[in-house]
This record gives sequence, C-alpha cells and structure tokens, in this order.
Amino acid sequence: MVSVQAVFLAFITALKNVQNALNHAGIGSQVKATVPFNADIYNSESNPVPSAGDFRPEIRDLTIEIAHFLHSNDAPFTINIYPFLSLYGNNDFPVDYAFFDGSSKPIRDGDHTYTNVFDAKFDTLVWSLTKAGYPDMKIIVGESGWPTDGDKNANTQNAKRLNQGFFRKPLSGRGTPARKGLIDVYLFSVIDENAKSIAPGSFERHWGIFEFDGKPKYEIDLSGLQGNKGLFAVEAVRYMHKRWCVLNPHVKDLKDPQREIDYSCSLSDCTALGYGSSCNHLSVQGNTSYAFNMYYQFMDQNSWSCDFSGLAVVTDEDPSEDQCRFR
Ligand SMILES: *[C@@H]1O[C@H](CO)[C@@H](O)[C@H](O)[C@H]1NC(C)=O
Repeated sequence: MVSVQAVFLAFITALKNVQNALNHAGIGSQVKATVPFNADIYNSESNPVPSAGDFRPEIRDLTIEIAHFLHSNDAPFTINIYPFLSLYGNNDFPVDYAFFDGSSKPIRDGDHTYTNVFDAKFDTLVWSLTKAGYPDMKIIVGESGWPTDGDKNANTQNAKRLNQGFFRKPLSGRGTPARKGLIDVYLFSVIDENAKSIAPGSFERHWGIFEFDGKPKYEIDLSGLQGNKGLFAVEAVRYMHKRWCVLNPHVKDLKDPQREIDYSCSLSDCTALGYGSSCNHLSVQGNTSYAFNMYYQFMDQNSWSCDFSGLAVVTDEDPSEDQCRFR
C-alpha cells in the first residue's frame, strides 16, 4: 500500500522536473506544467461552507508545496470538480444543487449565496489557497462533466442540463461568488471509452458528449446565449452493416445463460445492463441478446462470433427498445 504522502511526493518531483525542463528549454513562460487534483484534497463534505474550507490535514503541507511551486512559475492550480460524483451514492444530496439552474436550498456563506455544488467546491479551493497565502492563484478546472449511462442519475437529460449550464454560468464570465471573471473549464469527455476501468462505477464508460460515430448525444448551445451554435456530427462516417446478433427466438427452453452472458460481457461492454442503466429492464432473453450482440459488434461482426453453441442468430431487425439501444 502506497501512502497518499508518497504519491504527492512523486507528483512534486515529476512536476518540478517537467517545469524545470521547460524553463531550461526556454519555453517555460509559454508552457506550464500542472498536476490535476480531485476535489477531495479539501474536505468540503464536512465543511458546511466554502469559507471554512482548507486542505486535508494529512496532505496540507505537500499540497501547499505544490501550490508554491506552481505559483512561482505562474502556472495554474488544477482541480477536477464532478457534481455528478457529489450526487452519486449520496441519496441525501439535493438533486438541483448539482446543476446550475438554481436550488431550492441555497447555502449562505457570509455575504455569498451558493446555488450549486460546482461554485461551492471551486470556492472551497479559493479559500483553501487564500489561507495558504495564495489568494490570487490561477485555477483551472481540469475536468468536469456528466455521464449518460451506468447509473440512475446518468442520462442524456442530466448530462445536457449540467454541460449546458457551464456555458451559461462558469464560462459566462460571471465567475463564482468568491472569484469573479472567466473560469477555465475542461469538459470531460469527447467520446465514451468502452474499455475503461469501471472500478468507480459503470458510468465511467459513458462520459462522452458524442457517440462513437461522432454524433452528438444531445444538443448544446456553445454560445451560452439562446442561439443555435451547437454541436455538429462528424460527416462521411463509414458504418458496418446494420445487423445484430441475438438469442435465437426458436430457443424455447433457455438453460441458465449466465455463463454465456458473463463470457460475452467480459470481452465487450455491458455497462448498459446494470442497475439504473438504460437496459436494466430487459428480460433474461433480452439480457442474453444484449450480451451476444455486444460481443458480436466488438468482434467486428465476424460470423464465428455469433454462434454460442447454436443459441445465437444474426438479424437485420434492430432489437433496440426505448432508451435501450443495441449497437
Ligand atoms: C439482466 O442483467 C442485469 C445485469 O447483470 C441484472 O441486474 C438483471 O437482473 C438481469 N435481468 C434478468 C431478468 O435476469
């Protein structure tokens, strides 16, 4: 087991090496090295208001050492803030506080009022840095976003609601209560990653704003106004044949298919079948077809990959229903 302090020391060494090399090469004023932190370096859950924020005691000195180095190189402090993760696994979290369009339970902090967790987490960092002696430290949000599947709160409506909110609030130039002005935010991510570790949850494979084929999953107005400066689909995409591999409908007496399902899913991506996901309502037959098809598509529709001891057949009829899409 590696201690968190050891990890931080490795970060510090790497950060210094990279920035010093950049400085040595004469491009240190244009190119900055930084280290992305998760918003758990300060304990905002246990701190009721941003102004009470501070870095966690066990990593406080090391975090400040990093802040000092970044500051002396005019490099930004990078923080990842995921309102989705505040909501995920916390049934008491007020849902509307995860988004930018107002909250029925705002949090008051002196003269400041917080209506969303993004601003509150951002300002908790502003306060933590201020207490460490760096009130003017540049901050960039290295990652934020919302997944579209893999959890009960992960869907296109919520993803659109959060991501659209960035263009109306943090990117509008109004800033947060404690830090006025434009905030640098990087949205995560462009497309889904269907082989990514799902240790944090099935949603990990569904952060994309675009589908694999370059079609936007939902509309976003990038101007932040009510205009129509949206996302455009990639053109001239070449598709495989429109065909799917499903459980043969003539199979009347399906013996427990779990072994086949597990095999198919271990070599593909069945995160849409899980609890709260888009295909969680399927029958045993539906689950089996979903797993067969995922494997078949992952194998580039090779004919030998749709067999399963004769249980599977290829069809040109799309088995998708409602939100559950077979691809
Ligand atoms: C289908 O698979 C999912 C994921 O493994 C599971 O939660 C669900 O209970 C299955 N449905 C049936 C009817 O077996």
